[in-house]
Amino acid sequence: MASNRILVLGGTGQVGFELVRAFSLLGDVRAPSRIELDLTSELAVSNFLDQFQPSLILNAAAYTAVDKAESEPVLADRLNHLLPAQLSNWSAKHSAKLVHYSSDYVYPGNGRHAWIETDLTAPCNEYGRTKLKGDQAVESSGCMYLIFRTSWVYSARGHNFMKTMLALGKERTSLKVVNDQVGAPTPARLIALVTLQACLKSVTSGTYHLAPRGEVSWHGFAQAIFKFAAVAGINLAITPDAVEPIPSSDYPTPAQRPQNSRLNLTQLESALNCELPSWQSQLQLTIEEYLL
Ligand SMILES: NC(=O)c1ccc[n+]([C@@H]2O[C@H](COP(=O)([O-])OP(=O)(O)OC[C@H]3O[C@@H](n4cnc5c(N)ncnc54)[C@H](OP(=O)(O)O)[C@@H]3O)[C@@H](O)[C@H]2O)c1
Repeated sequence: MASNRILVLGGTGQVGFELVRAFSLLGDVRAPSRIELDLTSELAVSNFLDQFQPSLILNAAAYTAVDKAESEPVLADRLNHLLPAQLSNWSAKHSAKLVHYSSDYVYPGNGRHAWIETDLTAPCNEYGRTKLKGDQAVESSGCMYLIFRTSWVYSARGHNFMKTMLALGKERTSLKVVNDQVGAPTPARLIALVTLQACLKSVTSGTYHLAPRGEVSWHGFAQAIFKFAAVAGINLAITPDAVEPIPSSDYPTPAQRPQNSRLNLTQLESALNCELPSWQSQLQLTIEEYLL
C-alpha cells in the first residue's frame, strides 16, 4: 500500500483508538484530538488536510449519541454528513483514499432478513438519517473509498453496552434487557483489523457490511457477557438467568431503534476471501482484553 501519511479522525473513540494501533506500523499516523482539530469547523478541517496531505484518511469520528441527535440535528449533520462529504471531496481532488464508517441504522430496521448493501435505505431516526447522507456524499464524490457499515460497536475501553453490563452486573442481582432488537455486537478491534486487511488487499471501492457472524438480541448479549465474564473470573452479583427479557416498548427512548440490525456479510467475505469470526469468539477476546 502506497499510503504513508495516514490521518485518523476520531482517534479517541472506540474504533479510532484501535485504528491508530492497527495502522501505526504502516506509516506516519496522525490522530488529532478534538482540541487539536475541531471537526465542526470546515475551515479547520480544510487547513489540516492541506497541511498534512494524507494519502489515506480513516474517518472514525462521528456524532454517535443516538438519542441526543434527535434534539441536535444540526451538529449531528455536520459530523455525520458534511464532514465525510468534505473529506471525500478533498480525497477526490488529491487522489487520497477515504475509509468511512457507517451503520445498520441507514436501513428501515424492520423484518427479519439480513440487510444487503443494495437494500432500500430508510432510517428510522435522526442519527440514521445523517449517517445515510454521509454515505451518499462519499459514494457520489468520485474518490477512492471504503464505507464499512457496522453494528452495535463495543470495546474493552470507552462507553459501551458490554462495559455498562459488567459495571451493573457487579452491583445488581437482576436486570431487564430488551429482547426484540437483534443484531451482531462488533468489537472495535475487529473493525480496525478488517480495515487494515481491506487496505492491504486493495479491496475495490464500495460499501461493505462489517460485523461478526451470527445474531443475538441485546438480552442474549447481556446473558453471554455475564456467562463469559464469570468464566474469565470476574466477580459478579448477577447470573445470566437473572437477566429478564423485556420488549422495547417497556424501555422507551427519545430515538426509535431498529429491531432488525442483521447485516449480510457475503460481499466483504468475498472481497477478503475469508470468513468473519463469530460474535461469541469476539466477545470472549474482548473480555480477555478488558481484564488486561
Ligand atoms: N457505537 C456504535 O454502536 C456504532 C454502531 C454502528 C456504527 N458506528 C459508527 O462507527 C464509527 C465509530 O464509532 P465509535 O463507537 O468508535 O464512536 P465514538 O466512540 O463515539 O467516537 C467518536 C469520535 O468522534 C470524535 N468527535 C465527535 N465530535 C467531535 C468534534 N466536534 N470534534 C472532534 N472530534 C469529535 C470523538 O471525540 P471525543 O472523544 O473528543 O468526543 C471520538 O473520538 C462511527 O462512524 C459510528 O457512526 C458506531
